[in-house]
Amino acid sequence: MRVAIVGATGAVGHELLKVLEGSTLQFDELLLYASPRSAGSTLPFRGQDLTVQVTPDGAIDADVILASAGGSISKEKAPAWVAGGAVVIDNSSAFRYDADVPLVVPEVNGAAALEHKGIIANPNCTTAIAVVAVAPIHRAYGVRRMIVSTYQATSGAGAKGMDELLNQTHKVLHGQEASAEVFAHPIPFNVIPHIDAFQDNGYTKEEMKVAWETRKIIGDDSLKISCTAVRIPTLRTHSEAITLELERPATPDEVRALLAEAAGVEVRDNPAEKLYPMPLTASGKYDVEVGRIRASLVFDGGIELFVAGDQLLKGAALNAVQIAEYLQQHGALKAKQRA
Ligand code: A2P
Repeated sequence: MRVAIVGATGAVGHELLKVLEGSTLQFDELLLYASPRSAGSTLPFRGQDLTVQVTPDGAIDADVILASAGGSISKEKAPAWVAGGAVVIDNSSAFRYDADVPLVVPEVNGAAALEHKGIIANPNCTTAIAVVAVAPIHRAYGVRRMIVSTYQATSGAGAKGMDELLNQTHKVLHGQEASAEVFAHPIPFNVIPHIDAFQDNGYTKEEMKVAWETRKIIGDDSLKISCTAVRIPTLRTHSEAITLELERPATPDEVRALLAEAAGVEVRDNPAEKLYPMPLTASGKYDVEVGRIRASLVFDGGIELFVAGDQLLKGAALNAVQIAEYLQQHGALKAKQRA
């Protein structure tokens, strides 16, 4: 069994290597690909230095390809990878809305991955983190409306986003002017309510992704969702304030008990002890932290909560590896015959 990472040198690529180190996924060989800039460099994996190769134009001789080099690379190259017999687990938004491409968070709709036609899409990071907490509540109480406000780390824009935060903060602290290249405005000591392109309806694409993708993963087109997505000056982990209107009323204690049993969730909810989700505690963690669970003052019987999830892990690399593990556990990952 051969696994390949395309975009191995990026922020998500690095996390993919780390998650694969400790993964239960059975495989014999790991192939690493990136742009010509990185060709020949090495990355450590399980005690070996693996050489990064230029991503080829055609097929890659791997059984599973974890793609995180951006939407245009995936769009251009994934069809050839599938034609070459690989299953592609794609981190970009290139195929997420295609009817025949499953969009999967294994804790929520893992079985959808088994229906793939070669490509399985990994959701947008903000969506992946939210649905881990919201799907169990939806199953038990029926979510009718969902209002989300996000606090998104610079890691959402990749390694270059994190670099911009560090470099520009250093400049500001030394009395120099901060400029912006990756983000629309200087990010140090600022918050920017603008992630991805503005759409005709006044929402950004990032905000609409939360609505489109949550509906697809949860499998309920009637769910009404609105989101305000905001970039904040943290390095990694996205946080989200979520308000839920429910079909059947729920109490905070019931939701706390439900989420305590939910896969992929850590309930961190003891305000008296100053315990609640934060990037500082959620970074590097596989589980999404959920806390500040309280009765909504707006929707009778509704719930308000706050989540923090490592965007590079559950929002990207971890979820992708969990999809591969799910396929293998269900006998749906076969190694190609090789000479
Ligand atoms: P490289 O490091 O060689 O530029 P991030 O999301 O952190 O910006 O990472 C993007 C990833 O996608 C990196 O691994 C980057 O490789 C890779 N990448 C960028 N452009 C290409 C390309 N044209 N072909 C293959 N990989 C690419």
